[in-house]
Amino acid sequence: MMVRKIRLMFAITITLGICIIIFQLCLLLYDSTKLSFSDDNTPVILWWTPFGNNNQVKTCGSAKCYFTYNRAFKNNTRLKSILFYGSDFRIHDLPNWRSNAISWGLLHEESPRNNPILVHEKALNLFNYSSTFSRFSDVPLTLLDLPGLEELIATSYYVPTKEKSVFMHTENLAPVLYIQSDCDTASDRDHYVIELMKHIRIDSYGACVNNAQFDDRFKNNYLDILNNREFLSFVAKYKFTIAFENAVCDDYVTEKLWRPLVVGSVPIYYGSPSFKDWLPNNKSAISILDFASPVELANFLHKLVRDDSAYEEYLSHKLNERDYRVTNNRLLHALRKRPTGTINEFANYMEAFECFVCEQIQNNRGLKTSIVTRKQYNCPLPRDPITGEISKRNWWIQQWNIEKCGAKLLAHYITNNISINRNHFDEQKINMYDHNEC
Ligand SMILES: *[C@@H]1O[C@H](CO)[C@@H](O)[C@H](O)[C@H]1NC(C)=O
Ligand SMILES: *[C@@H]1O[C@H](CO)[C@@H](O)[C@H](O)[C@H]1NC(C)=O
Ligand SMILES: *[C@@H]1O[C@H](CO)[C@@H](O)[C@H](O)[C@H]1NC(C)=O
Ligand SMILES: *[C@@H]1O[C@H](CO)[C@@H](O)[C@H](O)[C@H]1NC(C)=O
Repeated sequence: MMVRKIRLMFAITITLGICIIIFQLCLLLYDSTKLSFSDDNTPVILWWTPFGNNNQVKTCGSAKCYFTYNRAFKNNTRLKSILFYGSDFRIHDLPNWRSNAISWGLLHEESPRNNPILVHEKALNLFNYSSTFSRFSDVPLTLLDLPGLEELIATSYYVPTKEKSVFMHTENLAPVLYIQSDCDTASDRDHYVIELMKHIRIDSYGACVNNAQFDDRFKNNYLDILNNREFLSFVAKYKFTIAFENAVCDDYVTEKLWRPLVVGSVPIYYGSPSFKDWLPNNKSAISILDFASPVELANFLHKLVRDDSAYEEYLSHKLNERDYRVTNNRLLHALRKRPTGTINEFANYMEAFECFVCEQIQNNRGLKTSIVTRKQYNCPLPRDPITGEISKRNWWIQQWNIEKCGAKLLAHYITNNISINRNHFDEQKINMYDHNEC
C-alpha cells in the first residue's frame, strides 16, 4: 500500500516537473515580441536608445501605448513610433529604414555640445515630435532646472546687501563669483570672463580662469555639492555670479541662471538671447549683451557695488511683498503648466513626452504631419561673445560646419533606407565639407 502511494506521488512529481520544463521551453521559443502584451490593438512605441518606460503598457488620457526598448519590435506591424534620447543618438546605430507611417521623436535637454549634428535643420527634419529646451517643442524643457516658484522667492539663503558688502572686506571676497570647469565651449565664455576680469575683481574657483581656491569643505568634490546647502550659502555671499551657458541657443537656460536667482546673487548672464522672457521680473539679471564691451559692464557693476538701492532693484524676487515677488506672467503660467507633479524631475517630462507621442498616434492617426525644425532647437553658428563676430579661433565653428554636411548626408541615407557604415560616412562627410557642398 504504502509503497504504491509513494510510487504514485513520485510519478506525479516527475510528470509535473517535465510539464513545467516543457512549458518554460515553449515560453523561450515563443516569439518574444508577441508575448509581452496581449492587447493586439495597442500601438508600440520603441525607445531606440533605452531611456523611458520599458515593456510597459501605459495609459495616456484616452490613449494607450506599449513602450519598449526591445528592438525586435522594429518590424512589428503595431510599431507606430521610434523615440531617441538626443545624447545617445548615434548615426551608425539607427533603424535602417524610414517609413512615413512610423514617426520619430527626439528627447534632448542638452545643448549641441553633446551631439552637434542635431543643430542642423536636415537632421532635425528627420523627427516628427520633440521635447527640447525650446518653448516651441512639444514638451518644452525650458524650465527643467528651475526647482520651483517657492525656491525662487524664498530667502533661506539670501544675504542682505549690507552683509555682502561686509564680506567683501572681512573675507576679502570679490564682488563677482565664477565657477566653471568646462573651459572649452562653443559659447567661448572664458574669453569674455578673462576680459571682464581686467576691469573688476572676480573670484574664480573652478578649473577655468582659476584664481581662487575653495576651502576644504568644497575642495575635492564640488561638482557633487553644487546643490548642497553649505555651498549655496557660500554662493549667496557674492553680489554677482557669472552665469554663462556652454552654448548659445534660444531658450537654453540652465541651473547656471537659476542657482544665483534662488540664492539671491545677481546673475550676469550669457546664453539664450531670449532669457529675459523667463526672469522673475524685468530686472532680475544682467545681460552682457546690453553692454558694448566688458569695460562698460564692469563700470556698471562697480556702480551697483557702491549703490545698494540700485543693486537691490535686481532682487525684487526676494525683497518685494510676497505676492509681488514674481511679476512675469509668462514664467508663472509656464510653471503652473509644468508636468512635474510634486517634485520637478526629469522623469516627469519624459513621461509627458511619451504620452504626447502616444496621444498623437491615437488621436491623429496620421492625418496631420508634423516635422521638427530649427525653431525647436535653435542654436545659431557660435559667435565671439565680445565682438559678436564669427571667430576663427573657436574650433566649434569648424565642428558646426562639418556636422552640417553630416546632417545633409544623414538625411539622404535615412530617407533612402541606406545602412550607414561609419567610416565611409565620415569620409563622405569630410569630402563634402572640403568641397563646400553643404
Ligand atoms: C525589417 O524590415 C526591413 C525592411 O522592411 C528589412 O530590410 C529587414 O530585413 C527586416 N528585419 C527583420 C529582422 O526582419
Ligand atoms: C517689463 O517692462 C516692459 C517695458 O519696460 C513692460 O511692458 C512689461 O510689462 C514689464 N514686465 C514685467 C514682467 O514687469
Ligand atoms: C514624419 O516626418 C517625415 C519626414 O521626416 C514625414 O515624411 C512624415 O510624414 C512624418 N510623419 C508624421 C506622422 O508626421
Ligand atoms: C524604406 O523602407 C520602408 C519600410 O520598408 C518603406 O515603407 C519605404 O517606402 C522605403 N523607402 C524607400 C525610399 O525605399
